[in-house]
Amino acid sequence: MKSVVSYPERGNYGKSNWRGNTSGLLIKDLIEFASQNTRTPLNSFLFVDACEGSGTSGDVCKELNCQYVGLDLHKGNDFTKDSILASLPREADTVFTHPPYAEMIQYSGKQWGNQLIESDLSNPKISKEEFLERSQLMLLNQRDATRTNGLYATLIGDMRKKGQFWSFQADYQNMMPKDELISVVIKMQHNCKSDNRTYGGSFIPILHEYLLIWKKKGASIYKVVWDNALRLKRSIASSWRNAIRLAFMKLGGKATLQEIYKEVEKIAGNLIKNNKNWQAKVRQQLQYHFRNVQRGVWAV
Ligand SMILES: C[S@@+](CC[C@H](N)C(=O)[O-])C[C@H]1O[C@@H](n2cnc3c(N)ncnc32)[C@H](O)[C@@H]1O
Repeated sequence: MKSVVSYPERGNYGKSNWRGNTSGLLIKDLIEFASQNTRTPLNSFLFVDACEGSGTSGDVCKELNCQYVGLDLHKGNDFTKDSILASLPREADTVFTHPPYAEMIQYSGKQWGNQLIESDLSNPKISKEEFLERSQLMLLNQRDATRTNGLYATLIGDMRKKGQFWSFQADYQNMMPKDELISVVIKMQHNCKSDNRTYGGSFIPILHEYLLIWKKKGASIYKVVWDNALRLKRSIASSWRNAIRLAFMKLGGKATLQEIYKEVEKIAGNLIKNNKNWQAKVRQQLQYHFRNVQRGVWAV
């Protein structure tokens, strides 16, 4: 497998009429790579697809003669509520997901079943924030079901709707431990409904999706969640610092406390809206990271 892949043919796997299905050739390459990377021969390799859709992964595993467990909401397995690990005979060598790209294609009530299921990740009634929150649960769940030094991977695309562009893969990368990500593979898309449309050239059509691959280290699921929270806390602190640095840029590198407050108010409206003590926060950052050059005057 290379960092850019393209499979114009989907191979004889899964069902071609299942909207949003993926090429079995990608799954085959992923399993062969994972088997080598984890030094696990195919005949003792356990591959899990936690949203198997039309069964593409199952067909590939049959051909490769490796063990397989396929789960999906349409079989009653909800990766936002049910532990994936609890459905397995043992921790998997690789857990893969190919979730809906938000509401781009609706599954329950359209592709299968006769009503929309609330926890379906393609539920058009949930916000993108909610979609991402549930996606993180999916990723943590699949990581939890992966053995230490095994791989977990997800196939996800970008979305453009009503003039807004969502790069879900960027959010997905941010949600999981940075030191576990081992590859980002760009997969060209073929046979999409949009292939036959012509565009006026006012925006760039999306022709690819991403396969993100992580290798699980030993940390417990709770540590991963906690580390994420710490990372967010650090990113808030660095946002404060950068807001003040920007204020100094505007003010020529040296300013009074009142001038800094005024500028920060303009720059960081969102940060201070819900923080009654924001001026104390600015003073604290000034003390830590900037120079007090004379009474009430600060400099970078
Ligand atoms: C893009 S399709 C997967 C297609 C599959 N890779 C194939 O080749 O056929 C996404 C799947 O995610 C499933 N899904 C949506 N929400 C889910 C949830 N909360 N738990 C488990 N599966 C879910 C849908 O039922 C759908 O089958």
